[in-house]
Amino acid sequence: MRLSIVTSNPGKVAEYQRSFEGYGIEAVHLREPYDEVQSSDLGEVVRKGIGELRSRGLSDFIIDDSGLFIDRLKGFPGVWSAYVQKTIGNDGVLKLMQGAGDRGAEFRCCIGCCIGGRDIVVTGVCRGSILEGGRGAGGFGYDPIFSHDGRRSFAEIPLDEKNGVSHRGVAVRMLIEEMRDLL
Ligand code: IMP
Repeated sequence: MRLSIVTSNPGKVAEYQRSFEGYGIEAVHLREPYDEVQSSDLGEVVRKGIGELRSRGLSDFIIDDSGLFIDRLKGFPGVWSAYVQKTIGNDGVLKLMQGAGDRGAEFRCCIGCCIGGRDIVVTGVCRGSILEGGRGAGGFGYDPIFSHDGRRSFAEIPLDEKNGVSHRGVAVRMLIEEMRDLL
């Protein structure tokens, strides 16, 4: 089976390709822009995105809307994660968190999959914390400042380990469960 990963982010594609290995799913990168509606709900963004891409004749694809939700900042940057990453970046987020005692945070990943005429939407969550400083050269986005174990950042651990615990890895396993009859 072949699934297009519709995103502008090659880091996400690498994670999907590795996660789908072993399930007989070939994940191919497709750069096809779609409107990411402004919503406080990742699921709504994904459902609208699926509808738009399907109406253009696309099928057998995945879209992924993710975000970092920081407890102390009442869930910020959350659905604004892409904008915040592009503007103030990890250094800006670390500044907002300077001196904060509560450093709890979670990544959420909502996957929308259009496969065999069916829509599947699943959300994976990974709890962790915001480190005091950025660490590591791997991964992408907020990976250098987020840790799932309180010691190493997502940018310091191998891709397979990130997939084993991450919001995206959790969501992929939920998706595979939903797709069992097609595999
Ligand atoms: P989007 O899903 O592409 O809109 O992602 C929103 C923001 O969160 C972007 O700046 C991404 O780089 C970042 N992001 C999404 N997933 C991850 C991840 O797994 N690790 C680190 N940053 C992520």
